[in-house]
This record gives sequence, structure tokens and C-alpha cells, in this order.
Amino acid sequence: MKIDLHCHILPKEWPNLKQRYGYEGWVQLHHHSQGEAKMMKYGNVFRVVQENCWDPEVRIREMDQSGVTVQALSTVPVMFNYWAKPKDTLDLCHILNDDLAATVRNHPTRFVGLGTLPMQDPELAVQEMHRCVRELGFPGIQIGSHINDWDLNCPELYPVYAAAEKLKCAIFVHPWDMKTDGRMSKYWLPWLVGMPAETTSAICCMLFGGIFEKFPKLKVCFAHGGGAFPYTIGRIEHGFNVRPDLCATDNKSNPREYLGRFYTDSLVHDPLALKLLVEVIGKDKVMLGTDYPFPLGELKPGRLIESMEEFSNELKDKLLAKNALEFLGLGKEQFVDPIAP
Ligand code: CO
Repeated sequence: MKIDLHCHILPKEWPNLKQRYGYEGWVQLHHHSQGEAKMMKYGNVFRVVQENCWDPEVRIREMDQSGVTVQALSTVPVMFNYWAKPKDTLDLCHILNDDLAATVRNHPTRFVGLGTLPMQDPELAVQEMHRCVRELGFPGIQIGSHINDWDLNCPELYPVYAAAEKLKCAIFVHPWDMKTDGRMSKYWLPWLVGMPAETTSAICCMLFGGIFEKFPKLKVCFAHGGGAFPYTIGRIEHGFNVRPDLCATDNKSNPREYLGRFYTDSLVHDPLALKLLVEVIGKDKVMLGTDYPFPLGELKPGRLIESMEEFSNELKDKLLAKNALEFLGLGKEQFVDPIAP
């Protein structure tokens, strides 16, 4: 069994949001040719996507080819829209989450949903989280690595964490909103350098901010193998020891104590990095994640884990599926098709 925890999906279409809300800045999908569409923002092409970005049947065909049993589906981070008026983001979250729920309902043995929330308004975010878990049956949600000016340690976000703990709602943290101008404007640096730094920031803020002390049952997974964190934990711990005046202001516990308390996906593109990741984050805490269907993801889902000669079959099973079932709080029986032989 293979569960891909990090996959993005969009509805095939959605209303004209500039008309619906009365201001610009929203992403629209323009289907310009068969099987291909442009994601447009302020009249510019943000990204060209193929039909596997919105068509569940195409996805299932590709999943069958690569042996992926289940995809955990989340929206594309550019759809977070935390910058907008909260009531409008909530409205769009309804559209995206309802579409996601319909896809999961039509293919309950192949997909699970990770909802999106208007995080800039924690009260509305909690309201939508309840709907995602209780009405739509999602086991978790996806949030950005920061929410406008708030990092993930921000007290404003405590009600969201408290609700997630209570509802047993898993949280997938995805990097986004990297600096793209000035020195970051070349060589795809926002994605290659900015994203791992964003994720490291998100992890450090949650650890130094004491989030896992305040919400010990919270289940959190960070994308892209935790960014630069697993490789820089030594530096981070050393910083904590030599400058507690800067690092230990909100939490007296050494960041290393939290290793084994949170999850990452496996998307590191390198066997040595994957080995380090599993050593640092824990054999029970790393989960297959590919960023499907985007080109910076693992193009052959699970290939890196499967290629690791030094990993036992038991460990591979954990990384490919078991840890994800644990993270999502699901049993594998729900993905078995009752009419299949
Ligand atoms: Co992604």
C-alpha cells in the first residue's frame, strides 16, 4: 500500500472571484486547450497545469501506473488567500472544500481530503475546520507556513490548534509566500531556497513558541522533508544553548526534545537526505509525499523510498503507508474496495 500525503488538486472551474467579491488578486483557471489550463493572477500566467490537476479520473489512472493506493488531496497554496477579506476567503474555502469532498465521496477508496481554512480569521477558521471534519469527513487540513504577519507560534492561532486537538484534525504545513523579488528573482530561488527556509522557520516557530507544550496531542506534518530543519537541527540546538536570551524566551525546552513528536513528508530527492531525515525525524514520523502533480515533486511516487537498500521492508511499509494512516487517524480497511476480488 502507498499513501501519498502531499498532493494538490483544484476544482475544474470556479466562479469569477473578482466579480463575486469586488476586488482583484484571485487566481482563475483559464482552460485554453484540451487537457491544459493557465492559472491566472492579475491577468498574468502564474502556472500552466495539466488535466491531472483537476480531473480525478486522470489522477486515478496515473496512481494505478505508479502504484499509489491513496492520495491525500489539498489545495494549491496560491489558493490560501489569507490576504483577502476573511468572509471572502471563507466563502472560497467553502467552494474548494465542497469540491474536494465531492471528489473524495466519488472515490472513497482512492482519496482523502485535507481542507483549507481562512486562517487570517481564527474564529472563522475554527468554524470551517468543524465543517471539514464533522460534515465533510476530512481527517485533516493544510495551512501555510505563516499567515500574513503571523508565524505559527502566534497566540492568535491557539484557538485553531485547540480545535484541531479536540477534533483530532491533522495539520499539514506547506511552505508558501516566499520572497520572490530582488536577489530571489532568479534561478527559481523562491522554490529551491525559499521554500526549505520557510518550512524551517515554521518548525522553529512552533518549537521555540512552545506549541507542542501547549497542545501536546496536536498532529503536525511539515512538507518537503521539513525543509532545511533536519540538516540544521545541530545549529538550531546550539543557538538555543548559547543564546537562550534570544531563543528560549517562550519555551525553556531544548528543540531537540521535540524530535519524534511531529511528522514530515519524504520529499527530499536524495537518498542521503532521506536517510538523515528518517534518523532525525523518526522512523514513525516520515511519510511518502510527492507534490503531485507538479514538476518539482517526486515524479515516480515512492521510488526514492523503495530504492533505499539500507531500509528494511518493515521501515519502507511505514514510510509508504503506515505512518500516514497513523497521522491521519485512519485504518487501511477503509481503502479496500468491497467489490474488488
Ligand atoms: Co506542495
